[in-house]
Amino acid sequence: MTMTPPIQLAEPGKKQIAADQIDYIDLYSRWEHGNWSAMDLDFTQDKIDWNEKFDDFMRKAARWNYSLFFFGEDEVADQLSPFIDAAPLEEHKYFLTTQQVDEARHAIFFSRFFKEVIGVEGASYADRLRAADADLTYGIKRVFGLLGDVTDELRRGDHSKPKLAQAIALYHFIVEGTLAQTGQHFIADYLERMDVLPGFRAGMVNVEKDEQRHIAFGVKLLADLNRQDPEVSPAVREILGKVMPYALGVFRPPNDDERYIEVFGETMIGVAVTGSRQLEMRVVAAGMEPYGPSGVLPFLDADATYEDRAARAFVMQKAGFFSGGTETIKPDQEALDYYFDLVAAAVRPDHKLKGPTTILWDFNDAGPRHMRIEGAKATVAAGSVPEPDVTFRTDIATWIGISGGFVQPGKALLTRKLKIKGSPITLAKLPSVFQTP
Ligand SMILES: [Fe+2]
Ligand SMILES: [Fe+2]
Repeated sequence: MTMTPPIQLAEPGKKQIAADQIDYIDLYSRWEHGNWSAMDLDFTQDKIDWNEKFDDFMRKAARWNYSLFFFGEDEVADQLSPFIDAAPLEEHKYFLTTQQVDEARHAIFFSRFFKEVIGVEGASYADRLRAADADLTYGIKRVFGLLGDVTDELRRGDHSKPKLAQAIALYHFIVEGTLAQTGQHFIADYLERMDVLPGFRAGMVNVEKDEQRHIAFGVKLLADLNRQDPEVSPAVREILGKVMPYALGVFRPPNDDERYIEVFGETMIGVAVTGSRQLEMRVVAAGMEPYGPSGVLPFLDADATYEDRAARAFVMQKAGFFSGGTETIKPDQEALDYYFDLVAAAVRPDHKLKGPTTILWDFNDAGPRHMRIEGAKATVAAGSVPEPDVTFRTDIATWIGISGGFVQPGKALLTRKLKIKGSPITLAKLPSVFQTP
């Protein structure tokens, strides 16, 4: 009898992670075996259910949600080709080509549903896609805007490992692994509970299987890139820091009317918790540190529960902090406290400050806040402090605008909405402390 050697999950001496169990060619072969047809799905019963088992509000809520998917599937189909050029190995390119076919199939699946079940008129695929426009949230537009910026850099020829890693983090980890999968669970759960839309459900099961392969590919590639280049982890941290406030706004219902989610038996907090669990799981599977000073999710407090984190994020969102200036930014004390916790958590451990440093934010429309930075440790507190090293005198909206990248600091200084006092040497080193978009 011959002994079968055990499966080698990782090279000797290398930390074993879940990504080591993923093989690119195995993923390709799963694609061959999992092929399905978006054209053959039968939507006859779906059309009856849509009109008879959903009431007016449910139809409105479901259409809003499915529009986000339809737009997303079309976008990811369009944005994938630069990945094929940038990926270093042949087996990456082969797999990514199958993924591109999948995304086109998903877009066609949603397009058929919009036409045959929802009854959206339009002569072309583009017409039906435009019908989804009115339902798009600010969050989804910004997430895909950022993905477009990063894939443009790949298109222009930046095929460096940190850039490819940022693109994978946005596409495979955030868009697919966090947003799409959370949305799929939400939809699949209520469709099954209600026992409606059999054609759509069958399609969604296939979409979800495809997405699992895509996400597994992303986890494997990010793990490989991370092992090959120490610049990958800081690059991923930077892009995740930029996208998270927008990602949170993707499922933000019209007029903050939570019935859009609750009508199908879920809550906003529940959806956000599922999303952040998914993201954390993928980061760990790729062998990356999620939390702490060198973690790639520095804006998530490791000690807080998922529910608490989500609740805090929604307080900031409702105060307009994540709106990119499209909403009034309110001087909300609770939101400000949470915001400064995030700022402290995102202080870069490799900053260039020479000794302990105190920064004071003297807000004229809310109480002051100060931060003490000593080595990699940053603590924040409400109230003033004598003799800070740097003082920013400003208002909340201007500061949130500067930290979010939509208010130019130079312009704020000129218009005297921002006044800065302090040592020029410390000021010159501040960009090394905070991540700026
Ligand atoms: Fe997809
Ligand atoms: Fe996908």
